[in-house]
Amino acid sequence: MRFRVFALTAFFSLPLTAFIISHAATTTAAQDASVAQENEQLTQRVNVYSYRQPFLVEPLFEQFTAATGIKVKVIFAKKGLIERVKTEGKRSPADVILTVDIGRLQAAQAVAQPVTSAILTKHVPKRARSADDKWFGLTWRARVAYVSRARVAATDLSFADLAKPEYRGRVCLRSGQHPYNIALFAALIDHMGEAGFKNWLSGLKANLAGKPSGNDRAQVRKVYGGACDIAIGNTYYMGKMQTNEKKPEQQDWAKSVRVVFPDMPRGGAHMNISGMAMAEYAPNRANAQKLMEFLVSETAQKTYAEVNFEYPISADIAASARVQSWGAFTPDRLSLSTIANLRRRASEIVDEVSFNDGP
Ligand SMILES: [Fe+2]
Repeated sequence: MRFRVFALTAFFSLPLTAFIISHAATTTAAQDASVAQENEQLTQRVNVYSYRQPFLVEPLFEQFTAATGIKVKVIFAKKGLIERVKTEGKRSPADVILTVDIGRLQAAQAVAQPVTSAILTKHVPKRARSADDKWFGLTWRARVAYVSRARVAATDLSFADLAKPEYRGRVCLRSGQHPYNIALFAALIDHMGEAGFKNWLSGLKANLAGKPSGNDRAQVRKVYGGACDIAIGNTYYMGKMQTNEKKPEQQDWAKSVRVVFPDMPRGGAHMNISGMAMAEYAPNRANAQKLMEFLVSETAQKTYAEVNFEYPISADIAASARVQSWGAFTPDRLSLSTIANLRRRASEIVDEVSFNDGP
């Protein structure tokens, strides 16, 4: 995912700054600062550590604040947030952690506390939340095939097909160790068994057009350029390419491909999630729960669907028209907890077959 650096991290040093200023300035200024600090403490707030980007979550937080009066303060980062919560320990200001991918939710579980909420259990299906209620899915994303409109006639591929000799030299995907692929591979271990998966992965490796490199969108660019015919990527990237005004060339990449939802061996498309967890030492626990419950509401779910082209976590809410235009499919019902437990083995097998060395 693209990354931008934000000055919002400065939020958390504000109370300390206010404190220092109140003691260094004149008496009047000190009194003003003290009152300001008291007001700040009285204000209802919730602190979020977010791996999700501002363009997506800021509209959600604005809606939440408008509905509840609770202010949301956010630290955005691409990595290191879970480690930061661990380091901060009991003094951590983090209330809610927002992230993508089951691997990161599994990591967040180590610094999370269970949340008992009828609203969350109503909207989030069992397979998209941890058994101990320490993480909850917020959106679904399928990991699909982007196939060349010009060079691939097949309309119903399976993941098993991608390892067949007819696709020799025609498949592109990012590093086998990327969390998105590790989740897919972990799911395939459950479907195929370890030996079956290892065989399949060796077949997929033989079919690669080159060494795995680049992100999901870079694979679609390779299909557009003719380097390969089938790329593996997450669904929402189709929406990001189709609507990309800053990099309009990506609209051409998108036009060169069709989305196909490959079936897993037992049927169904491979699904991953974005999700959330409440930090173990959340200082604003009640507000954190309110925010988590808001994020599964229809209002918030529609924002995820419209702004980032993701599938709502609840089957009761429709995906956006654009997302639906990529095709209907049956999701794999495999529990994300099962996938989480097989991630380590998937990663080991990727190395055992030297997948990242390419064909
Ligand atoms: Fe992504």
